[in-house]
Amino acid sequence: MRQALSALTDELRRLKATGVKTVTVSDEALVSIRRAVVAFRQDRSGGAAVATATTSASAPAPLPPPAPVRAAVPEPTVAPPRPPPAPAVMLPVVAAASLPPAPTVTLPEGDKATRWQALLAKVQADPVCRENVRPGKKVVLGVGSLDARIMFVGEAPGSEEEIAGEPFVGPAGQLLTKMISAMGLKREQVYIGNIMNWRPQLPTVDGREQVGNRPPTEAEMRYCLPYLKAQIDVVQPELLVALGSTAAQGLLGFGAFKALGEVRGRWRDFNGRPLMVTYHPSYILRNQSNRSKRMIWEDLLQVMERAGLAVSYKQRGYFLEK
Ligand code: URA
Repeated sequence: MRQALSALTDELRRLKATGVKTVTVSDEALVSIRRAVVAFRQDRSGGAAVATATTSASAPAPLPPPAPVRAAVPEPTVAPPRPPPAPAVMLPVVAAASLPPAPTVTLPEGDKATRWQALLAKVQADPVCRENVRPGKKVVLGVGSLDARIMFVGEAPGSEEEIAGEPFVGPAGQLLTKMISAMGLKREQVYIGNIMNWRPQLPTVDGREQVGNRPPTEAEMRYCLPYLKAQIDVVQPELLVALGSTAAQGLLGFGAFKALGEVRGRWRDFNGRPLMVTYHPSYILRNQSNRSKRMIWEDLLQVMERAGLAVSYKQRGYFLEK
């Protein structure tokens, strides 16, 4: 088992070294990994569960050292009955299912900066946000101009963002910054937020660094949404741009669509504000074709037009060639 887990983490590290930033793991695979780890621990501890259900953000207990090699035993002719599946509450990744009700965010009177600072203090002190951030990492609010006319909304902080305490600073963020400058704007002129204020956790082996990201659960999104809404209240942007499915779901409502293609590229409404849904920049990082770039770019052209920004002939033609 230890070898299998080492092989898995080695492979993930190898992928990371080759530039892979996200690895999609199905729910079934996650459950299998969890079960395997729990079964391994139970086996090592003579059958007693050693992990306890927790909502803590602390890393799982380290795996015990390998047991001494046992003397060979005769192979049973009939496979023993499989132990019942371990409950799926052993690792922090599932703790989000039992989140308390979403916070009520009331901001003080005052100018935008005063209100935003109060919001920052509130989210940083939020016990649920703190509990869901691993030691040494940060709760993340939005960044940018409080007078921005355009607000971009992403999914959740990743590994770089939870260190910096700022959204979109990793590879997807650098691409977003390029997209913004292709629109003729500076990153500092817009506002950038996320649905989530913490990086959704994945189980780690031996308390090591998390590899990859997972999409947030609905419960996690519901918990963090008041913080995003409060940022919209403070900034009062004219236009919103949802980047990817999670952001679109958070703003349009859960179950509002099945595939992003159904809602992207057309104006929607979020509490009276025009909302454009487009793909997440990480989609372009995975699909570097001009066709993919053009799809996002056409959505951004619509945003530019609605915002009254000048669109040059050159800008209109970006990513048209094959
Ligand atoms: N992806 C997001 O959706 N948000 C970030 O802050 C970084 C990457």
